[in-house]
Amino acid sequence: MPATPTFPHIRQQIAGVAVADIVADVGTPVYVYDAAKIVERIEDLAAFDVVRFAQKACSNLAVLDLCRRHGTLVDAVSGWEIRRALAAGYPDHGQPPPIVYTADIFDRESLDLVIQHQLHVNCGSPDMIDQLGDHLSGGEISLRVNPGFGHGHSQKTNTGGAQSKHGIWYEELSDCIERAAARGMAVTGLHMHIGSGTDLQHLSRVCDAMEQMARHVGSTLVSISAGGGLPVPYKEGEAYVDLDAYFQLWDATRKRLESGLEHGLRLEIEPGRYLTAESGYLISEIRAIKRMGGNLFYLLDAGFNDLARPILYGAYHPMSLAPADGSQDRPMQAVVVGGPLCESGDIFTQEEGGFVSSRTLPKAEVGDYLVIGGAGAYGAVMASNYNSKPLAPEVLITHGATHVIRRRQTFEELIAAERILPE
Ligand code: LLP
Repeated sequence: MPATPTFPHIRQQIAGVAVADIVADVGTPVYVYDAAKIVERIEDLAAFDVVRFAQKACSNLAVLDLCRRHGTLVDAVSGWEIRRALAAGYPDHGQPPPIVYTADIFDRESLDLVIQHQLHVNCGSPDMIDQLGDHLSGGEISLRVNPGFGHGHSQKTNTGGAQSKHGIWYEELSDCIERAAARGMAVTGLHMHIGSGTDLQHLSRVCDAMEQMARHVGSTLVSISAGGGLPVPYKEGEAYVDLDAYFQLWDATRKRLESGLEHGLRLEIEPGRYLTAESGYLISEIRAIKRMGGNLFYLLDAGFNDLARPILYGAYHPMSLAPADGSQDRPMQAVVVGGPLCESGDIFTQEEGGFVSSRTLPKAEVGDYLVIGGAGAYGAVMASNYNSKPLAPEVLITHGATHVIRRRQTFEELIAAERILPE
């Protein structure tokens, strides 16, 4: 792995396939994933006993199937994520559990599915222990603990501390172990996820908290999970995390805990972004170029209905131009990049708080394609139908071949569940 990735200004190809060919096949906007990059990222984490894909990052069935075939297990945070995992071929039974339901509530459907398939549950609220206990006699559960601190790339992705709704407050751990025992359930797993897109320094603090909590649980414990949160570089100059150092910290924690036990402890990691972010691109067409006072705007046919991260978090995504005339070189200029939606916040170059910023990109013509990188995690999965825009298609590239893994939504599908009242 290089120390830092490079993001080209001009990009005519994705994983060996011409952007123009993809567009000719499926049009724009379109999400494209490079399967080899996902596999590479899975392999980066091979030192961990279990890589459990947080499918919320990119849950297309073909992506789940790819992850499954490369040995990852899967996390589900909703009833329908359970159904996706099953539809992608994950078995409901096995050791370690192939599918784990991790959430802070059971809605009625997820509880039914968990019971029906007897899935392992990682409980994020004390009520979940009771609700599960009402339906099961005995069994094993994990507890997701909020260690009292957290950190994310944005305050909205910080999942620890007293302002977060996630997990069981660390001071209530003993109480929850007793609650479970009263229902005949053993706590066999502990899990901590302090936030998404955090950094090594914050992630490392989790090891100490985990060690303390694990000692409370004692001999029933068979697995500890480091959660997700591994960052990826989105900007020129940003570096990859030192995965070896991260693994060593967790492995040392695991070994210290094992020394007080008569059995081994499984070490899990639960990445979402790390596995898929860099594999994904959103290709759009530039449909208008206009000046507003001192700002030059490129307006795309993709908006925050397709990729919501900039408007939600002020997230930065790398951008490249694929000139329609095939040119490999264009002069650079500062531009603001926006989408088609009837809402002024529909800007891809913005900072947290909604402040519009500019980006230095190659000079473009209407009809050129803009390729937004780092879009494989929390891209397609967070898309909406705002302004009655259809959900974009998704394409997976494997060994230089393109496969449409989701076709563009049709107008008929968009309105299928609606009806006009009779007069
Ligand atoms: N495990 C749990 C329990 C989680 O809540 C999450 C993310 C993950 C794992 C995976 O985190 P990752 O490795 O991807 O950082 N929409 C936001 C991210 C929200 C993440 C929610 N939970 C974004 O676009 O940055």
